[in-house]
Formats: sequence, structure tokens, C-alpha cells
Amino acid sequence: MSSQHSPRHRPAAGEAGGSAAPLRPSTAVVGLQWGDEGKGKVIDLVAGGFDAVVRYNGGANAGHSVVVQGKRHALHLMPSAVHHPNAIGVIANGVVVDPEVLLKEIDGLAALGVKPPRLALSDRAHVVLPYHKEEDAIRETAAAEADPENDRSIGTTRRGIGPAYSEKALRSTAVRVGDLLRPAALRETLDRACTIKNAQFRALSRAARHFDAATLSEQYSRFGERLRPYVTDTVVLLRKMIDEGRALLFEGANATLLDVDHGTFPFVTASNCTALGIPAGTGVPGRMIGRVVGVMKAYCTRVGAGPFPTEQPNEVGDRIRQRGNEYGTTTGRPRRCGWLDLVALRYAIGINDADAIALMLLDVLSGFETINVCTEYRIGGVRTDRFPPDAMALAEAEPVYESLPGWSEEISSVQALEELPEAARGYIRFIEDQAGAPVEWVSVGPDRAQTIALNAGPAQAALQAR
Ligand code: IMP
Repeated sequence: MSSQHSPRHRPAAGEAGGSAAPLRPSTAVVGLQWGDEGKGKVIDLVAGGFDAVVRYNGGANAGHSVVVQGKRHALHLMPSAVHHPNAIGVIANGVVVDPEVLLKEIDGLAALGVKPPRLALSDRAHVVLPYHKEEDAIRETAAAEADPENDRSIGTTRRGIGPAYSEKALRSTAVRVGDLLRPAALRETLDRACTIKNAQFRALSRAARHFDAATLSEQYSRFGERLRPYVTDTVVLLRKMIDEGRALLFEGANATLLDVDHGTFPFVTASNCTALGIPAGTGVPGRMIGRVVGVMKAYCTRVGAGPFPTEQPNEVGDRIRQRGNEYGTTTGRPRRCGWLDLVALRYAIGINDADAIALMLLDVLSGFETINVCTEYRIGGVRTDRFPPDAMALAEAEPVYESLPGWSEEISSVQALEELPEAARGYIRFIEDQAGAPVEWVSVGPDRAQTIALNAGPAQAALQAR
């Protein structure tokens, strides 16, 4: 029986495997809100203990920055820990890859001395082409302009993510990374695709770009040649690593409430961003994921359109935006800011089956006399603790708040739980009680050192005792 098909059981923390190496739990890190929770920092904190950091969804719409030799570097497609010496970065089949962006990131890292990155790129990942970005823009503009009173645009990042995933579902015009290495087949597909796209775009917008299959085919074959050293069947690679007792860290891009099936549809991205996306997006069966760490902010933010019950379009939101530097990593757009929504959080913990919470940006809340937290919704006059994962239903939800005491002290240099003001500790306890999952890390600033690890629970022991 090939290792690809050998039966396994779900590994538990510290459990010994058949091989000499102990079977450590593979772990997922996912965003519990609408993105930008600080997953990159959490991954950076724990990645040293893992053998691979695996992206399974999304594309260049995600954004995180890594600090290499003291220099901050923005990445959109590369797995967060690609600069860690021990872990290989894997871009698995569920990701949509913009080769131009990926090559720029590889070159950017090389300029920082990370050369060549330890990267494996799935031959089955789908390719984002320039016409996908054009389509993203045309659709967004059309949705906004059709009825100026009623803007229907999603507020996408315009990175071509939705159109690339649509192409995957359409199949006959889709290009996968492996196709970039087969020039004749690539040309054929691009001929078909360009004929359709050019006709559609011309009908929708006189300003639309025209796409030439021959030019694209040449350009993307060149990208393919440059990417060739990284291209492989990542399903086989990951299964082999698991069989050897290696631990994988799955890096969720975007976040739970943006999940195409479980988020606030239609104001979502086009992939499964929750832990549920891992099996299909990597070929690693779900029962092989030992731990799920959910990352949340101490408040809520959202970029783009869509319902946001606890949004504070007032001085509260402005203060959070200013203190939290809440501007998009990918697009630079100001983020919408508001109070913590525990109805949405409980939903997100449930759908991901999160074992542990990393609570980020707690320092941003210093200086509020009271902090409101949404514990229930009122929908149609009826109180409910159920989160409706549907934009129209959620738009009807009015938050029911509980007010907690705030704290005035700056906490960004606090190193231990006991040093936090009593009100900040009360806030953490309240979140744990309401969420039904332990808070195992509290982040009080962007640097690694600005992290408080709480009473080593099982997830933490598994992640840190390596
Ligand atoms: P798309 O993924 O570019 O199609 O955008 C769809 C929606 O998801 C928009 O509201 C984006 O602002 C949002 N979005 C996508 N990726 C992220 C992310 O990483 N952080 C925050 N919002 C995101």
C-alpha cells in the first residue's frame, strides 16, 4: 500500500507514533472574525515547532508581514513562516496562485537574504490570470453603478480571487500551476479563455482591457519555468510528512465570517477559510488535524461591505482604528471598527471546533472607561444567541450589549497575566466564559515579545514543548 493511502488515526498530543519520532499533533491557525486578526504573528510564534506551514485557501487577498533580520516585509501568498529555517512553506491545492505576485515575493525575500525559500507549490493549485483581476474590477464597478442608491458591490480586494475560483468550477478554461509547465496545452486553454473573456468584457465595459492568448501564454510559461523548482504534488508530500511523524501547521487565510459557505454570504471571499477547508484544500483528512487555534481581536473589524452588527461608525470606532492602525495590509483601506461580538465569536469557535484562543490587540482597548461586548442579538424583537450566517438575516440583528469596566493603563509592555490591570483580566475571563474555549495567548503589541502566554493548557504544551 502506498503511503498516500495508508490508514492513520487522529494523533493526540504527545502520543507516540509507530516511527521513532513522536507523532505530534498537526495544528490549524484560523481567524475567528472578519480577517486581519493577527494570524501571522501567532504562526510566527509557534512555527519553530513545526515542520511545514501550509496555506490551504485564498490567494493574494490575504496579507501579513514578516520581520526578517529586523526588516518588515509584506507577504500575500507565501506561507507566513517561509523564512523559518526548520519549516517548509507549502502552498496547497486549495489556494489560487497569482504567479506574478508569488515571484515578486520570492525575489523580495531573496533580497532580504532568504534564498531560495523552502517552498512547495501544488501543481493542482489554480492560477489567477490578469483577466480574473479585470473581471473582479468590472463586476465590482457594475454592482456599484447599476443602482447608485443601492450599491451591491462586495468591496473585494480586486485580486481576482472570486473569478479564479469560478474558473475552477467552470473547468474547461481553468489553468492550474502544472499547466504552466506545458506550453502547448496552456496556449490552447488560454485561446479558449481569452475568446470568452474578451467578448464578455467588451459587452460589459468599453474601457475593458483586451487579452491576447499568445502574449499571456508566453508570459505565464516563463513564470512557470521560474516556479518549476517548487512545483510538486503537495498531497503526496504532506501525507509523507505525516507518515514520518512530522507536524504540520495549517495557516488559514481570510477568516471564518468570510468563508464562502459559512460566512456572511454574499459579503464573503470565495474559499473555505475555516478549518473545514483544510481537508479539501490540502488532501489531508480532517481527523489528522490535532488542534485548532482560533485567533481573534479584542474587538471587531471588517474591510469591505456587509453587515457588521457591532460596528461603531463614531468616535469609538475612530479611536480603535487609530490605536490599532486598522488599515488593510493588502489594499490600505481603512477598516470598519466596532465592539467585540460574542454571538459571532461563539459561532466561529463552534464551526472550527477551536480548542484554544489567541486574543490579539488587547492593548488597543486601553483608555476606554467602559467596554461594550455584544452577548446576544435582537432580531425582529426577539432575543437570540444564534448567529445567522447570511447577510440579509444578519443585517436585521441589533446587538444586545453588556458593559464591562475598562482600564486606563497602557499595557503594551506587560509580560505576565498578573501584571495586567484587574479590568483587563476580567475582560479576558469574560471572553473565555462566553466563548467556551481557553484564551492561551494574549497579544499586547506587534512584536513577538509582546505576548503573554497563559497557564500552559494542552494546546500550548503541545505547541511549545518542542
Ligand atoms: P475577495 O477575497 O478579494 O473576493 O474579497 C471579498 C471580501 O473579503 C471583501 O470584503 C474583502 O475585503 C474581504 N477579505 C478578503 N480577504 C481578506 C483578509 O485577509 N482580511 C480581511 N478581509 C478580507
